[in-house]
Amino acid sequence: MCGIIGYVGTKEVVPVLMDGLRKLEYRGYDSAGITVLNRNKLILHRCAGKLMNLEQELQKFLIRGKIGLGHTRWATHGKPTRENAHPHTDCKGNFVVVHNGIIENYLTLRKKLIKEGHKFQSDTDTEVIAHLIEKYFKGNLFKATQRALKDLKGSYALGVISTIDPGKIVAARHGSPLIVGMGEKEYFIASDVSAILAYTKEVISLEDGETAILDFKGVKFFNSYAKKIHKSSRIIKWNVLMAEKSGYKHFMLKEICEQTEVVRDTLRGRICLEKGGVFLEEEISWGKKEIDEIGKIFIVACGTSYHSGLIGKYVLEDLVKIPCEVDIASEFRYRSPLVKKNDLVIVVTQSGETADTLAALREAKKKGVKTLAICNVIDSSITRECDCVLYTRCGPEIGVASTKAFMGQLIILYLLSLYLAKIKESFSPIKAKEIISALFELPLKIEETIKMQDIIHDYAQRFFKKSDFLYLGRNVNYPIALEGALKLKEIAYIHAEGYAAGEMKHGPIALIDENMPVLVIANQGKVYDKILSNIKEVKARDGIVIVLASKGDRKIHKEVEDVFYLPKTMEILTPVLNVIPLQFLAYYIAVKRGCDVDQPRNLAKSVTVE
Ligand code: AGP
Repeated sequence: MCGIIGYVGTKEVVPVLMDGLRKLEYRGYDSAGITVLNRNKLILHRCAGKLMNLEQELQKFLIRGKIGLGHTRWATHGKPTRENAHPHTDCKGNFVVVHNGIIENYLTLRKKLIKEGHKFQSDTDTEVIAHLIEKYFKGNLFKATQRALKDLKGSYALGVISTIDPGKIVAARHGSPLIVGMGEKEYFIASDVSAILAYTKEVISLEDGETAILDFKGVKFFNSYAKKIHKSSRIIKWNVLMAEKSGYKHFMLKEICEQTEVVRDTLRGRICLEKGGVFLEEEISWGKKEIDEIGKIFIVACGTSYHSGLIGKYVLEDLVKIPCEVDIASEFRYRSPLVKKNDLVIVVTQSGETADTLAALREAKKKGVKTLAICNVIDSSITRECDCVLYTRCGPEIGVASTKAFMGQLIILYLLSLYLAKIKESFSPIKAKEIISALFELPLKIEETIKMQDIIHDYAQRFFKKSDFLYLGRNVNYPIALEGALKLKEIAYIHAEGYAAGEMKHGPIALIDENMPVLVIANQGKVYDKILSNIKEVKARDGIVIVLASKGDRKIHKEVEDVFYLPKTMEILTPVLNVIPLQFLAYYIAVKRGCDVDQPRNLAKSVTVE
């Protein structure tokens, strides 16, 4: 997720762009840049690192101009360097682009453009857009941009300016948000309203396939057939802080609700229904020989990332038929793990900076194993020390409690398992196709689950005063019980335990009484009847039972009053949906208890100390 802004109007553009980028920095902050057109001369400044680096650079120059573009980056393709920072230009610097999204077919386009003589200066997917516009330009920037968009596959929200068709910004949107701000003789494009609220509250949202031309006289809108259309504006009622959270009260709530997009973006370009397969060849360098040699897989992580790793174990062993061991990083590095040279160590980490995970990785590497990182931050410390990296493409996760990053990790683990199974031919292609088809349906089911959050909000009003909770799950949902308990602990400061439901009779059942809410994950599947017995055990001791069940379950309501019905999906994918109500439960209980949801006491977003 990146932040883009564009301006054309009567003000000096640089302060407007920089002010907008400061408001958008929460969307991405690993590099930033601006471009200004001054008497058709292009001025371009880009810096790696935080926005303040760009601010310091700009202080050395007096840049004048009334039209320009700005970008703050969250890298998805290409390290967060100055060369990869946006804006990007064509060969001659006549066309400049800022972009938020993922161009899935950028490598194919890049190879073709290089063959046609184009010279690339970055490793990003975005740069292909500038070269395509250069290729198709015949005097009209809008037409050249329209033609270039036809070659793109993936998602984009972009702004383009040109020295040879100056005085205008061409904007386009497909799959990533883009709004147009309508000021007093000044016009804006931005990734979200927070960037421009200080100047105007009148905005128009571009829809997928729509484009716009902004110039000093006003804005024209076009549909996907390049036909002029009329669009009505709306007045934003948020203040700037609310706008940074897109109107949500907390970043955590926003990030829970972003999970639909996270799944779409993380799947994008890596999975193909028609070909019935997962394609990670661009990201995993090992061939069939190395993959066939893998004797055992070790997954090492901390906290929430450890929980996604536990789910990875069930999926990898089921699909790839390789033994898999999951370790808490701080334990792995101090025991004597029997890691052999032909094993694979997977480290799972949102930040890529967790000290325990980095240390465990280094311990593993001493044994000469293959290493792979599942991470959300390009070029972070851990990714730089692994042989291969699979990025989760969640955008920055601001809330300390990890939600959308966990979701991204699950998706990557499914993709990795399907990919390894394909290479090892360890799993029937028909079954693989069934899972792939179910993966494609997940975003809509996630959206449907998110829309039912009011039910969870009501549970939170009933249970927020409880001092202890128990979460029970079996099989691939046992780690979800652990994750649900961790969420409640870390943001609502309530003691909660996740347990394998089959373990109840070996101790925890002694805890059950009329004050103990017990949340049970009871999707229909191979362990459903066992879970029903566990529910009966709890009810027999007056425990308060809340159940997550699948829509269409006709039995569960006879046993339990409080049932949250989730959309049906394949059993192996149920963790993706089950975790959402548990995230909401922790969130709404924490809010009701007046906790600091985005920055819980004693916690840090990235634990870079041991
Ligand atoms: C998650 O909600 C926690 N904030 C924490 O457990 C986190 O998952 C853990 O510190 C690992 O962080 P990482 O994923 O960045 O390595």
